[in-house]
Amino acid sequence: MLSRKSVISASSGFWMKSFGHLVVLSSLSFLASGYSERDRVHDLMSRFPLIDGHNDLALQLRILHNNRLSQVDLYNFSKVSTDITRLQAGHVQAQMFAVYVMCGAQEKDAVRLTLEQIDVVRRMCTEYQDFELVTSAQELRNSEMRHKIACLISVEGGHSIDSSMPALRMFYQLGVRSMSLTHTCNTPWAESSSKRYNVYQRQNNSLTPFGKAVVEEMNRMGMIVDLSHTSWDTASAALKHSKAPVIFSHSSSFSLCSHGRNVPDWLLLDLKNKSGLIMVNMHSNFVSCSDKANVSHVADHFDHIKKVIGAESIGIGGDFEGAVNFPQGLEDVSKYPALIQELLRRNWTENELADVLRNNFLRVFEEVERVRDQLTSTRPSEVQISLEEVQNPCRLVLRPPSPRGSSHQNPSSGDQHEPKVLLILTIVLMLSSLLMIE
Ligand SMILES: *[C@@H]1O[C@H](CO)[C@@H](O)[C@H](O)[C@H]1NC(C)=O
Ligand SMILES: *[C@@H]1O[C@H](CO)[C@@H](O)[C@H](O)[C@H]1NC(C)=O
Ligand SMILES: *[C@@H]1O[C@H](CO)[C@@H](O)[C@H](O)[C@H]1NC(C)=O
Ligand SMILES: *[C@@H]1O[C@H](CO)[C@@H](O)[C@H](O)[C@H]1NC(C)=O
Ligand SMILES: *[C@@H]1O[C@H](CO)[C@@H](O)[C@H](O)[C@H]1NC(C)=O
Ligand SMILES: [Zn+2]
Repeated sequence: MLSRKSVISASSGFWMKSFGHLVVLSSLSFLASGYSERDRVHDLMSRFPLIDGHNDLALQLRILHNNRLSQVDLYNFSKVSTDITRLQAGHVQAQMFAVYVMCGAQEKDAVRLTLEQIDVVRRMCTEYQDFELVTSAQELRNSEMRHKIACLISVEGGHSIDSSMPALRMFYQLGVRSMSLTHTCNTPWAESSSKRYNVYQRQNNSLTPFGKAVVEEMNRMGMIVDLSHTSWDTASAALKHSKAPVIFSHSSSFSLCSHGRNVPDWLLLDLKNKSGLIMVNMHSNFVSCSDKANVSHVADHFDHIKKVIGAESIGIGGDFEGAVNFPQGLEDVSKYPALIQELLRRNWTENELADVLRNNFLRVFEEVERVRDQLTSTRPSEVQISLEEVQNPCRLVLRPPSPRGSSHQNPSSGDQHEPKVLLILTIVLMLSSLLMIE
């Protein structure tokens, strides 16, 4: 080993070596700090992988391939922003997949189309080994142990049930565990945030008695009530009426971007009071109110909502595949770590982020299940909507036979045929009297 003196005596060698050490040290520390920030995010997200509230991959399968799953490779689906490879890179462990059909189907074949969307999600989540369809909070937790991506099915828009409690119940049987009360159209029983479709105008009756019965039935079955896309009045009424916590699966803060799809602070306070959850939407137009945004804009929504109602009320609902403009740095589902990194930089604690990533959603889901378990003695709802309220020309109206008389006659062939018979009788009488004259 060289003594300090002998090193100094070899002056040129010393400077060379020191310089070398400095370079190594500084690049090491640079690497160490750069690495540790990213590593910290990946470590956190490995322990608390994301449960995301909203993804429209099934809609894209419909649009691009008419649901022919055999035409795509879900490990590498480069036409869209979501595939298994990128979900895994983004530490997405559970995804609520929307089964959405256009509002234009409301008075047509919305129920069939919804069934087809449920079918394609069920197919993709059973045919791909890395996916797993789950229908309870416990199954969701188990799928994490098995390193699977859990699929939850969520109906987007109450028009999918065609104002039918039995249809709602059958969707539950097929695995649906969440439904947003509206999409961009009013239903006969709930009002949308959008005025795009001029159907079923509501008059200060944002959630009708039938709408309240839908919320009750969802509570009874353990289906999460989703208020994204509803009008604020509908959201407010549903919050008052629901026995279980509710969610906004993909909405952001109205204070930061005054878009009707976003949630104002007064409504956030009601949501907190109900122990509900807002899963922040990343779509640029809801985040910055323009086509362009970046990670900072998204993080601003998290900061603001945390300030108003606390990190325990926040989740993430990316809305990938449901919109086109996504922020710079958050272009696809593999980019979620960039958002978590930004929130860490803004001094969010690991506990807060663990809540945002998954614990808050699990708490809400478990509470919804607990309310269901308390309601086991409640009978399934037999509430029916009146024909006047639906005004749907596609409905087959079955009428019971007229109770009048006990004859074997077809009940509908009674009174209305009498005038004809009378007319024929009159003609016969007239003819016969004419014949008699001649
Ligand atoms: C994904 O598919 C595209 C073509 O659609 C191909 O160019 C690319 O190499 C594939 N990537 C991987 C990782 O297989
Ligand atoms: C609805 O509410 C508005 C404002 O609160 C009021 O002006 C209007 O008269 C109400 N309409 C009905 C039908 O109750
Ligand atoms: C919600 O509000 C009601 C009425 O204002 C109040 O009684 C209740 O304690 C609140 N609950 C929570 C969880 O804040
Ligand atoms: C995001 O864009 C804003 C301007 O709109 C800019 O001030 C900010 O630095 C950007 N943030 C990042 C992380 O690029
Ligand atoms: C985060 O905390 C550090 C240390 O307390 C502080 O210096 C820094 O300004 C904080 N950053 C933000 C964005 O609040
Ligand atoms: Zn949506």
